[in-house]
Amino acid sequence: MSALPLSLLPDTATVSGDGRLSIGGCDLLDVAREFGTPLFVYDEAHLRARAREAVAAFGDGAHYATKAFLCTAMAELVHDEGMHLDVATGGEYHVARAAGVPASDLVLHGNNKDDDELRRALDEGVGRIVVDSFDEMDRIEALVRDGRQPPKVLLRLTPGIEAHTHEFVQTGQDDSKFGFGVHTGAAQAAFERAQASTGMELVGLHTHIGSQIFEASFFEKAIGVLARWFREHALPELSVGGGIGVAYVEGEQAPTITEWADVVRAACRAAGIDAAISAEPGRAIAAQAGVTLYTVGTIKDIPGIREYVSVDGGMSDNPRPVLYDSGYEAFLPRDVTADRTRAIRLVGKHCESGDLLVRDGRVPADIEVGDVLATPVTGAYGHSMANNYNKVTRPAVVFVREGDARVVVRRETFDDLLRLDVE
Ligand code: LLP
Repeated sequence: MSALPLSLLPDTATVSGDGRLSIGGCDLLDVAREFGTPLFVYDEAHLRARAREAVAAFGDGAHYATKAFLCTAMAELVHDEGMHLDVATGGEYHVARAAGVPASDLVLHGNNKDDDELRRALDEGVGRIVVDSFDEMDRIEALVRDGRQPPKVLLRLTPGIEAHTHEFVQTGQDDSKFGFGVHTGAAQAAFERAQASTGMELVGLHTHIGSQIFEASFFEKAIGVLARWFREHALPELSVGGGIGVAYVEGEQAPTITEWADVVRAACRAAGIDAAISAEPGRAIAAQAGVTLYTVGTIKDIPGIREYVSVDGGMSDNPRPVLYDSGYEAFLPRDVTADRTRAIRLVGKHCESGDLLVRDGRVPADIEVGDVLATPVTGAYGHSMANNYNKVTRPAVVFVREGDARVVVRRETFDDLLRLDVE
């Protein structure tokens, strides 16, 4: 079996003469030694390049979906590059605000926004609210009746499209908790109500059909479904959500942000939509910027069955293989270009058999206990979905850039595990 495809690594990845991997000018074995494992390492130049690409493609309509990966440094970085931020909960909103992002640069999402989330957003002058239900309209109108400015809103419509992706990350189909269904008539009813409401200013429509989508044609279809509202009414804004996929494993090919934007624009033109287009990529900004470093702790060969390689993390720092059966590659940063001839199952340290990182993995034949092992493309929905199952502490996050490595999220300690307990 072949060596790791280097295209899965962050932009600034380089391999030294003796096969060692550096990112952002930092040797990953040195980074692992300095900061410990497991560790999320992000290529800052890669993050910035993708954010710039999004701004070049969508201009003022470029929004970063913070759910993919959020911490103070990340909010600062994307804001610094000129992106707006999509926040889906009061927590994401809070982190973005704490990082100094003005409320006017935030778009508030969520299928179940509560009064506190809406009140804060209205009081601070949030940029847009993407309205998801009639109950939410009731709540916004009540807050405005109490003397607040009516917010600018987009209505989230569900176009009735099943994009080819994992069922759990499909959101465009009729049977969905998100948005107002076009086919059920809810979309039209919501549109009429929002237009007539004095509690909100309807500025446009939003749709998000799912995540990790490789085929841009699904976006064309969604745009086609929404087009009639734009042709019949002077609606200034259309958000096509996020969802563009990235390559995780050998052989996968994904469109770039620029290619996606071209398809979206062409589809809007073809559908007669003359509105400002915005988009909310999350994964496409963060995924390939990150790698996770682990240390190999145990290698267990079960003759005739399989070999298990256990590392010091697992489903607590990357639950995606368990949740979505997602595939990942594994490699050794000490020998990046080595052929990976040894078939293994890469597992974590959690107390259940489902705790796997790579179901059918391949690693170099000379892998041994103590090696630093890496999984690439873990920058999105890894750290953000990390948890403390089995009281495993969450990894630190390090940004590397031009030979400098800085901690942006410190490693959790055992004492952190007791932080919330009340005696
Ligand atoms: N906008 C909205 C309204 C969304 O719901 C999402 C993702 C995005 C933008 C960003 O989508 P992206 O560009 O990252 O695909 N935990 C799952 C992914 C869940 C995505 C949820 N919504 C995973 O690990 O694959």
